[in-house]
Amino acid sequence: MSTVAELRAALPREGVGFVPTMGYLHRGHLALVERARRENPFVVVSVFVNPLQFGPGEDYHRYPRDLERDRALLQEAGVDLLFAPGVEEMYPEGFATRVQVEGPLTALWEGAVRPGHFQGVATVVARLFLLVQPQRAYFGEKDYQQLLVVRRMVRDLGFPVEVVGVPTVREEDGLALSSRNVYLSPETRKKAPVLYRALLAMREVAGQGGSVAEALRAGEEALRAVPEFRRVYLAIVHPETLLPLSDWVAGARGIVAGRFPEARLIDNLEVYP
Ligand code: PAF
Repeated sequence: MSTVAELRAALPREGVGFVPTMGYLHRGHLALVERARRENPFVVVSVFVNPLQFGPGEDYHRYPRDLERDRALLQEAGVDLLFAPGVEEMYPEGFATRVQVEGPLTALWEGAVRPGHFQGVATVVARLFLLVQPQRAYFGEKDYQQLLVVRRMVRDLGFPVEVVGVPTVREEDGLALSSRNVYLSPETRKKAPVLYRALLAMREVAGQGGSVAEALRAGEEALRAVPEFRRVYLAIVHPETLLPLSDWVAGARGIVAGRFPEARLIDNLEVYP
């Protein structure tokens, strides 16, 4: 269904698990759906490529879309309701409200590279939460910073929603699943696991008792093996504040982002248990 009125009429009063997506679904999304099905009697998935979270010059227009394929996958996965609104339905004429999470959580890393991105995410997620009124909502750890921004917003605004983070699903060679992986040429695709290799290298140094600085050096060295990957950031950060660490804390997270000629990729991993 594609209208707010239809959605309202079809929603049960409680027991809703919600998986917001931008479509072009892959096994990572289906892992969110499976988890939602296990934990909720009624599962809603939204498919909406949200223009507010794309900057000028980003890939909004070429972002991959295939609603019929998504619909078939979700039906097979036993989803109760697919909500796929158009832009006019989500943002009717005159829509002027934005939700802004302030501070380092949105200023650092992806926020620094993509100004306005997290405001777009927070705005659409807040609107979707108010429309779908879920008890639980499921987000992939692949977009770890997004998960933290949504958690912050939910706490600050008091949404009665439990935000559940679900571990990243990877290809056999370690590449994190992403709808944007379709942009990669076969040559680049072979090189793309370098992000994961850098994260593993950092985790290995941590596991052997190395320092944060040593782990970072190991990560950087792993990235250097693939010069086509132009790093934007590689860091070891606090798992809740995302501030860079100089000493280990439990749950320390390695984060990495950069560009191949055809696409920008990001990844992250817990590097210190
Ligand atoms: O992670 C995504 O696909 C999007 O950022 C989300 C959460 C669906 C909001 O548009």
